[in-house]
Amino acid sequence: MKVGIIGSGGREHAICESIKNSHKINKIYCFPGNAGTQEIAENIEIDLDNFEKIKNIVLEKKIDLIIVGPEKPLVEGLVDYLEDHKIKTFGPSKTASQLEGSKIFTKQLCKKFNIPTAKFGIFKNKEDAKQFLKETNFPTVVKADNLASGKGVYICSNEIDARLAIDEIFDGKFGETENLLIEEFLNGEEMSFFTIHDGNNFKKFGTAQDHKRVLEGDKGKNTGGMGAYSPSRLINIELEDKIINKIIKPTLRGLFELGSRYKGFLYTGLMIVKDEPYLIEYNVRMGDPECQTILPKLETDLIDICLACCNEKLNEIEIKWSNKKSLCVVVCSKGYPDEFKKNIEIKNLKKIKLNKDDFLYHAGTKKKEEKIYATGGRVLNFVSLSDNFKTAKEKIKNNLDKLNWSEGFYRKDIGYKVIKS
Ligand code: AMP
Ligand code: GLY
Repeated sequence: MKVGIIGSGGREHAICESIKNSHKINKIYCFPGNAGTQEIAENIEIDLDNFEKIKNIVLEKKIDLIIVGPEKPLVEGLVDYLEDHKIKTFGPSKTASQLEGSKIFTKQLCKKFNIPTAKFGIFKNKEDAKQFLKETNFPTVVKADNLASGKGVYICSNEIDARLAIDEIFDGKFGETENLLIEEFLNGEEMSFFTIHDGNNFKKFGTAQDHKRVLEGDKGKNTGGMGAYSPSRLINIELEDKIINKIIKPTLRGLFELGSRYKGFLYTGLMIVKDEPYLIEYNVRMGDPECQTILPKLETDLIDICLACCNEKLNEIEIKWSNKKSLCVVVCSKGYPDEFKKNIEIKNLKKIKLNKDDFLYHAGTKKKEEKIYATGGRVLNFVSLSDNFKTAKEKIKNNLDKLNWSEGFYRKDIGYKVIKS
């Protein structure tokens, strides 16, 4: 069969790598993909806002299954659109995707179904929001309601910072937004919990710990993610039961009441405070770089799993995992998450020899005349599996030394909570 992957990041390269050996597949297309996916798939240069063009190519190439990676096309309803044209598509509907597309949608669902989350207020203008700050405890969290690639969230330690955040959000720094949220700051440890859904049933799909801040020691600006490890050090059976029963199941019930059922990956972003899970956010997709960290551990054919979800038969499939530890370090262009140079050659890629259990996923890269250029903020993902996190990280370090890319940088402390030096 022919499969199409929507997206161009490390997550999509990892999905391509995971499915390339599937006994069912004879061709993969990537819309638009990167220099890494190009080695496995046919990249199709396309604007992901152009649903009609995507649909026409899928029909023309007779692609049997589409897997949607990123949030934007999901939130804008690509799955509904393709399914209306009888194209089998793995991902949540537009209604269900509001779980990520609108923080307020999710917060209201939490309120109605008693799902544990930070206390919050919703504001439609600067004046009301700033007035509310007078009775707020600090630190406090100010968030844009719309999609902002992980960047529309400000942790503010005082009123001056919070006022600035309110101005930036309402002035359109993250695109037009009608609403802004001010949230209680939860002091705990974060964890990402993944599930996969077929509309009726769901199964666990791993846990991870992302590193969202750009600088070592979890300092500096928020990014899309600078590295991750899996499994999370926090997970245990009791916590898992709480996450499923207090958070995920009531959410699915809420969607059901809205006439929607969830199909696709669901990423539950949590803060664990004294062994209790609080929902910080939902993402209606795999995380990036969590996907790159988790998929190398998957032992069941991902295509079989996605097809089972599209056919509402997830309960008939057993998902098997390696119990190795996985660690991922993201290499970024200098300057990210602010301005960075584009089209810089990455010279030493050929020097890197990947052993079994080592993986290199491209993100913002392009190939031109046999040379690889960095085109994005996050550029490469180095992943290793091992019996322990320390060895996984040492293997990654060897490859990073060989890369020796002077225009890039990476966090040297990924996994510091699970690797004691
Ligand atoms: P979000 O885009 O909502 O996931 O927020 C981005 C990051 O901001 C999260 O991963 C957390 O690190 C942090 N964050 C968001 N909301 C809170 C909160 N209520 N308390 C503490 N940290 C938060
Ligand atoms: N790593 C965070 C995200 O994918 O949103």
